[in-house]
Amino acid sequence: MAKDNNNIATMIRSKQENKETDKTNKVVLETDKLTKKFGGLIAVNNFDLKVSQGQISSLIGPNGAGKTTVFNVVTGIYKADSGKVLFQGEDLAGKKPHQIIKKGIARTFQNIRLFSNMTCLENVMAGQHCRSREGTWSSILQTPGQRKEELEIKKNAEDRLKQVGLWRWRDELAKNIAYGNQRMLEIGRALASNPDLLILDEPSSGLNDKESEDLIVFLKSLVKENLTILLIEHDMNVVMGISHWVTVMDEGKKIAEGLPEDIYTNPQVIEAYLGKDEEEEE
Ligand SMILES: Nc1ncnc2c1ncn2[C@@H]1O[C@H](COP(=O)(O)OP(=O)(O)OP(=O)(O)O)[C@@H](O)[C@H]1O
Ligand SMILES: [Mg+2]
Repeated sequence: MAKDNNNIATMIRSKQENKETDKTNKVVLETDKLTKKFGGLIAVNNFDLKVSQGQISSLIGPNGAGKTTVFNVVTGIYKADSGKVLFQGEDLAGKKPHQIIKKGIARTFQNIRLFSNMTCLENVMAGQHCRSREGTWSSILQTPGQRKEELEIKKNAEDRLKQVGLWRWRDELAKNIAYGNQRMLEIGRALASNPDLLILDEPSSGLNDKESEDLIVFLKSLVKENLTILLIEHDMNVVMGISHWVTVMDEGKKIAEGLPEDIYTNPQVIEAYLGKDEEEEE
């Protein structure tokens, strides 16, 4: 956290900048006293989170804080032990991951999960099948409706691939493209489901400085189109450079939330990070 202080300080979104980009402030995603346990471990503990429409919200915290577990409960991979997840006012309890994608939430993973032996274009096309309208019978019979839908899926995938800057790699297998490009491909696949909320788990992990800067510019361009973004990030340059709102988690609990500039100087947040560093050094 203390690293690159000057660099970060110049990048922090100012209160003024935040005011200028404040939109309706309508809450799209909310967790209410969310709790998830693994045996005796309380990974997420009475956790409240609010994500506002058209903004970039960041969830930060030391390793093992429970961040990814929050994402896994929100996206239906894990069932909450108690508490609620509300998306656009609707309780997502009991919904399966593919149903949640259909509701308008798409995500990427901390460890890249692509179909490595499929081409980049095929990977992005795979992101849309959950939203397919045509049923199994029409797909077997290849009805005109189904053929039309396949063409629409391909066209949308091509557009998304261009949007994430990977058009030239469309026919290349996902496993053969550079790591930074694989991260962008995952974002392209998530975008292909035309989400209202995009959830990214450490999108800059493994990227070099230039790629991280490009990612910041790209994510900012997405919110201009009124997409809402929630991200987990360890790179403070990225967090402070793009977040409208930051929530800090430690040991399953929310320890702070606020504007980036306030979070950056919050003593409790600094202690949570530095305390962990000292423990790790012992
Ligand atoms: N499937 C699981 N089974 C058992 N324990 C788990 C499982 N998933 C996560 N945990 C534990 O829950 C706690 C929170 O993990 P989580 O992955 O949510 O943390 P995180 O904040 O994402 O950390 P990091 O920054 O390292 O990715 C950790 O102690 C982790 O070991
Ligand atoms: Mg994680």
